[in-house]
Amino acid sequence: MVSYCITELLDKGKSTVHQDVIVKGWVRAFRSNRFIALNDGTTIKNLQVVIDFEKFDEELIKRIGTGVSLKVKGTVVESQGKGQIIEVHARDIHIYGDVDQDALSQTILQPKRHSLELLREQAHLRFRTNTFAAIMRVRHHLMFAVHEFFHQNGFFYINTPIITGSDAEGAGEMFTVTTLPLQSVPVNEQGSVDFAQDFFGKETNLTVSGQLEAEAAAMGLGKVYTFGPTFRAENSNTSRHLAEFWMIEPEVAFNDLDDNMDLAEEFLKYTIGYALEHCKDDLEFLAERYAQEQSQKPKNERQDIGLLERLDYVLNNKFVRLTYTEAIEILKNSKPNKKGQFKYPIEEWGADLQSEHERYLVEKHFKKPVILFDYPAKIKAFYMRLNDDEKTVRAMDVLFPGIGEMVGGSQREERLDVLQRKMQDMNIDQEELWWYTDTRKFGTVPHSGFGLGLERLVQFVTGMGNIRDVIAFPRTPKSAEF
Ligand code: 4AD
Ligand code: MG
Repeated sequence: MVSYCITELLDKGKSTVHQDVIVKGWVRAFRSNRFIALNDGTTIKNLQVVIDFEKFDEELIKRIGTGVSLKVKGTVVESQGKGQIIEVHARDIHIYGDVDQDALSQTILQPKRHSLELLREQAHLRFRTNTFAAIMRVRHHLMFAVHEFFHQNGFFYINTPIITGSDAEGAGEMFTVTTLPLQSVPVNEQGSVDFAQDFFGKETNLTVSGQLEAEAAAMGLGKVYTFGPTFRAENSNTSRHLAEFWMIEPEVAFNDLDDNMDLAEEFLKYTIGYALEHCKDDLEFLAERYAQEQSQKPKNERQDIGLLERLDYVLNNKFVRLTYTEAIEILKNSKPNKKGQFKYPIEEWGADLQSEHERYLVEKHFKKPVILFDYPAKIKAFYMRLNDDEKTVRAMDVLFPGIGEMVGGSQREERLDVLQRKMQDMNIDQEELWWYTDTRKFGTVPHSGFGLGLERLVQFVTGMGNIRDVIAFPRTPKSAEF
């Protein structure tokens, strides 16, 4: 008697016919008191279990219904029905957990179409739905592909701290970490919070990025990457922002911005290709869902190609590379800008690009992923390398259809004097970051890196419109249930 998970059994297919097997899972549907569709989460496909009700206790059969968890012992048989090659004829059924069908009908486990909003409200149950389970499996494979890509390319995986004293992005969007009593916060002589009495003896926060520590690591190990949770207290309730998300940040000594763009493009293509290869069934299911969703949208909002075609398209086309300055010219002269259709009209050089502009460039103008580089220094972080024009920095953003910014990165300022000048100009606490400037004192080298928000990549690959649907338990403003 061999115990199989369902994906394994279905993969082996006909070669298992006549074998006695054990399978376990949850009932997705029970028809005609005879056919159980059993799912165990290992694949989008269900296993058909057939029971001969004359051979089973009537009471037991009554208990079988949607959601019930089972262990089945039986024999694999070639299936006569269509839709499956093999099925299991049950000899013995053990019920692990019963289900009150009335209670179940109030949940998303009720087998019918539910809205994604409702799935989110029952996030603890949505792993049992086809859509969410498929997304979670794809997410897993993408994470695995990330590690595989870097490992194969000689990068070392570094774990940077989650609790830090610094604001890596200098944007002040941090969650404070403290054990001070909030009802009576100690105050110092200057009248501000006395963090000297706090757990770490200083003010600390949840990290917004592991980049600064990764830079230090790259200055000894050469090629490193971080992959961990990052936290941003930005109050943006959009379909692309989370307060807690997973960021991948490679950092490479001796790489300039061109090398950095090459790395980002190669990396994105590798992970997307990996998902296409390893998540066929799930992606086909999600592509169908995506097509249905598109068909319900007004014509002018529809994506003109299917999910799988779009993934292939990204794999097979070189990303467009152009400077911020060139992009501004295109945007200034674009139809939506002239017709006043942008919420934020582009008037002059120096404007920060909004997602509507990024998506115009990618979806309407170039119809390809775009890497924009050499942004105005004023709208980018302090650590980016200043160009000779003294106005722009060696920043790059990779822009994707349907998403906007997928990756943000840069060549770093490796010259101590320029870095210190920029930190001063941008009001960055140099005392707190003494160790960061220190790395420029002992054999500094040009180096570059970037950050990719895992959830945005999962969104792109699965075609999900809302980032809350690609992470198990999303954290967003006013929402930290589960
Ligand atoms: O552009 P960002 O802010 O860059 C950095 O944090 C750099 N330190 C990265 C580096 O150079 N090592 O963020 C990088 C990426 C974005 O392009 C986006 O994919 C994702 O992180 N991201 C978010 N994803 C989900 N929710 C949010 N609130 C995000 N903020 C950024
Ligand atoms: Mg960015």
